[in-house]
Order: sequence, then C-alpha cells, then structure tokens
Amino acid sequence: MDQNSPAVSKVTVPAILERKLRGEKVTCLTAYDYPTARLVDEAGIELILVGDSLAQVVLGYDSTVPVTVDEMLHHLKAVRRGVRRALLIGDLPFGSYHISDEQALTNAIRFVKEGGAEAVKLEGGRQRAPLVRKLVEAQIPVMGHIGLTPQSIHTFGTYRVQGRTLDSAAELLADAEALEEAGAFAIVLEGMPRELAAAITRRLRIPTIGIGAGPDCDGQVLVFHDFVGLSFGRGAKFVRTYTNLREVLHQAIVNFRADVGAGSYPDDSESYHWSVAVRQEFEKETTHSS
Ligand code: KIV
Repeated sequence: MDQNSPAVSKVTVPAILERKLRGEKVTCLTAYDYPTARLVDEAGIELILVGDSLAQVVLGYDSTVPVTVDEMLHHLKAVRRGVRRALLIGDLPFGSYHISDEQALTNAIRFVKEGGAEAVKLEGGRQRAPLVRKLVEAQIPVMGHIGLTPQSIHTFGTYRVQGRTLDSAAELLADAEALEEAGAFAIVLEGMPRELAAAITRRLRIPTIGIGAGPDCDGQVLVFHDFVGLSFGRGAKFVRTYTNLREVLHQAIVNFRADVGAGSYPDDSESYHWSVAVRQEFEKETTHSS
C-alpha cells in the first residue's frame, strides 16, 4: 500500500451509527484476501466483513459450519493489510463462541489483536444478548446477525426465509431489540420478508444491514463472490450480479492456453534480451568453437 497517499477519513463505529441518524445508507461487502480488500476499500464501501461465507466461496466447504478460527484469522490478516478506510469486521465462526463467554472473549480478542478486526459479528438473537453485552463491555464492538443464520443450517434443515408468519416475525423483532439493548452497533438481517425488515429497521436506533431482506434496511451487504459472478452454486433471488467474472476469467484462461499452444505467447516484446555487446560476444565464441 502507498504509505505516502493522502490521509483517508477512517470509518468508525460512531460514524456508522451517525449514518442512520442522517438517513445515509451503509454499504458492506465481504473480502477474504488482500487484492479484494484493496478494491472494496478503495471504492468507498464503509464496512468490510471477513465473513464465514469464506468457508463456501473460497475454501469449498459445503456450509459455513466447518470453517475454523485459525482459517478465519489467516484471511482476516490478509484483508487487514489491504484496508485503510473501511471498518473491518471479523465473523466469529460456528463453535467459536458457543461453549462459554470465556471462549467467545478469547476468540474475539484474537480477532482484534492478531487479525486487526475493529468489530466482530456473531449469529443469534435473544440467546446471544448476554454474550454481546460481555463483548461490548470488553470494548469489542459487535454486529448482530438474525433471520436466516447460516450457522443454524442443521437446525433449520434448509436455507429458508425466516419470519414469514406473524409469530416468527415477532420473535425476530424481539431478537433485534435484545441485541440493540445489549449494545450491538448494527444488525445483519438475512433472508426475511421485506415488510418485517422494514418494521425492525423503523424500531431500532442502530442500523440494519440487509441481505435478502429488501430495500428498506439502513444498508445492504453482499458476498463478494456472489455479486461479481464468481460463485458456483445456484444464485439466490436477491443477488444482483454486477459483472460475470467467472465468464471473463474462463475466457482469459482459454486464451492463454491457446496462445501457448500456438507459440504466440510470449512474443519478443514479452521477452528479456542480451545487450548487443553480449550477443556479439556470444556469437563470436560459438563461431570459434564450431
Ligand atoms: O459470512 C458472510 O458472508 C455473512 C454475510 C452473508 C452477512 O455473514
């Protein structure tokens, strides 16, 4: 990174809260490596999440469940090296905060100290509120995550929109309020009806960041590989593909193979050369010795 480039105005937790007061939308994208982090940060996205979707889109696992704290940290550190302005959030993976508050604090502190995260995210509503409070008391900002929480896949059975009935909607509203009350600075609302997300957004003072939750949230988050067309699974309804990198990259790879096969890569301008003097010397020596 260019250390001489002009100072950037750092995005902070208070700045994110102020955006809601001013009615300014918040944008969030995931990043899992240095080049992606630079691209996302330099484009002005406010929140960068090293999400546990890493498990599926980068590491090839079939759910987010298997990814470990060490795997997350490896990617978090790479992203940290690429981010200057955005607020960097590390996603606590399944099993890293479920055993005890002490375990959760230990892992969250590793994310902050070793990984350079400025906040952590964890899934769950009312049952996680006491833990959120403990983390906040330990000066670790927390982003909540409710609705279709992928770490609960074995409980849900399938990835299905949550809060479709009035009873389940009331549960999610209570979850959101409990997380705000516990001190969360923002909440991801994933996979829920637009009407419910709008009602939660109106009720809370902290920003809601939607994914598959309609346009009325205070902000939106997408998984990087999904919105650039680099995912291999069936795309969800809410994902807008802004470019199809899979096609672009496929064509580049096919072209490289064809050029090497045809001997047209590399050409002379892509090759290093001896100086004229060295070439002449070489030619003299090879002529004498033959
Ligand atoms: O891991 C992730 O990418 C996430 C987003 C979907 C919010 O949690």
